[in-house]
Amino acid sequence: MASLTVRQLDDTLKRLLRLRAARHGRSMEDEIRMILREAAQETVCDARDLINPPNPALAEPRRASTGSRAEPGLRSEAADRHRLVLIVGGGIAAYKSLDLIRRLQDRSILVRCILTAAAQHFVTPLAAGALCGNHVHTDLFDPKSEFDVGHIRLARDTDLIVVAPATADLLAKMAGGHADDLASAVLLATDKPILIAPAMNPQMWAAKATQRNLAQLTTDGVHVVGPNVGEMAERGEGGVGRMAEPLEIVAAAELVLHGTRLLTGRRVLVTSGPTNEPIDPVRFIANRSSGKQGHAIAAAAAAAGADVVLVSGPVSLPDPPGVDVVKIETARQMLQAVERALPADVAIFAAAVADWRAEQPSDHKIKKQQDRSPALKLVENPDILSTIAHRQANRPRLVIGFAAETHDVIANARAKLAKKGCDWIVANDVSPETGVMGGDSNTVHLVSAGGVENWPPQSKGDVARMLVQRIARSLKDLDAAGP
Ligand SMILES: Cc1cc2nc3c(=O)[nH]c(=O)nc-3n(C[C@H](O)[C@H](O)[C@H](O)COP(=O)(O)O)c2cc1C
Repeated sequence: MASLTVRQLDDTLKRLLRLRAARHGRSMEDEIRMILREAAQETVCDARDLINPPNPALAEPRRASTGSRAEPGLRSEAADRHRLVLIVGGGIAAYKSLDLIRRLQDRSILVRCILTAAAQHFVTPLAAGALCGNHVHTDLFDPKSEFDVGHIRLARDTDLIVVAPATADLLAKMAGGHADDLASAVLLATDKPILIAPAMNPQMWAAKATQRNLAQLTTDGVHVVGPNVGEMAERGEGGVGRMAEPLEIVAAAELVLHGTRLLTGRRVLVTSGPTNEPIDPVRFIANRSSGKQGHAIAAAAAAAGADVVLVSGPVSLPDPPGVDVVKIETARQMLQAVERALPADVAIFAAAVADWRAEQPSDHKIKKQQDRSPALKLVENPDILSTIAHRQANRPRLVIGFAAETHDVIANARAKLAKKGCDWIVANDVSPETGVMGGDSNTVHLVSAGGVENWPPQSKGDVARMLVQRIARSLKDLDAAGP
């Protein structure tokens, strides 16, 4: 086998290579490996074409930018295309991951595949390899790749790692930081974003251990898509646990890959958390809002490139990175801070603002009296959502309210949309049994004049990213429609 070192290349080539390596944040040696790998992938594709020419009658249309030919695109602009490692876990839904490979390739994404030992009971490395046009990785101690510490390379030479199906076992390993097989070692060694598509029996999904692991993973910044509600492979069983459909996973992957550009140049205002309305200097009226959803939205909007102002009530959460945070206590202070933060393209009112405040807060601590309890007279607070939605000047182009309901969620959200004059309501059921208040996941319905979208149960981070994607699309449509 021929051997080549950087030193043997001519100066022009070396300079070009240095520039290219710097652009991709890789060493020159790593860049050469990537170039060779991509060239090899193209060769595999060409070879596959010769053996098994694509059948135009069966071919689906590909994205225009990948060229007109109906072949999973591994051929053009390889260096500029996103690279993804797909880890397939040992669940029934593994068969869908073969389709997922095709769908990712439809989007010009280069796919490399890892199958766990359990996954190989459901799909073969041969099938996955034929689809992704690449050697499929199965073994941590593979002498062919480990001469180069292959698991570290797999973990780093990618833009995103997708785990689909993410089994209960893989979630536990990830949450616990295990690294005793190739999949878990790659997941632990990576510095790239991770997207998981859990799939399991509803009992396994609802198990306290799985929910604990999921909460840990979302805290660790892992992105989650699904699972959906539906029938299970086990006859007669249904519930939450079906893997998200391949196209949903592709959409979530694209959001993670492209998310950084969606809201560049836009100004976004978010409110979050509860308000505290004083009764006296030591007591106040509060509510159970943790601020997790509002803070996640501010973080997602900032990650998407927006200039974000977050007006937050008292929460015990860190300030989201890259966000201008204004801390307030009461509803009236929140309204003032919101008005000062205008103009904005979008305003998202996720805070749980107290409807009432004490009419006359005492300026000294109210003492216990033997013969009577103090009467607390309440007055209404300003309605921030309605005030901003009804503004004549400086009304954000998109005003979004949240509706936390314990019953008739959709009907109440529709009524709120009409009453407040906002554009969208994100409605969620906050009954105690849902665990939404203070929890890490949420099931929301997006209610607008156009109808109701029921979103799957997902982490608050993923609700936020999905909302950001919808906002970006809507602003683009508004731009196109003109002033
Ligand atoms: C027929 C069958 C179907 C299974 N389906 C699932 C599943 O959908 N989700 C899951 O978490 N585990 C499922 N399991 C259990 C996993 O295969 C098992 O936990 C395995 O150790 C997972 O390994 P991995 O996480 O390394 O892929 C299934 C097992 C069998 C035998």
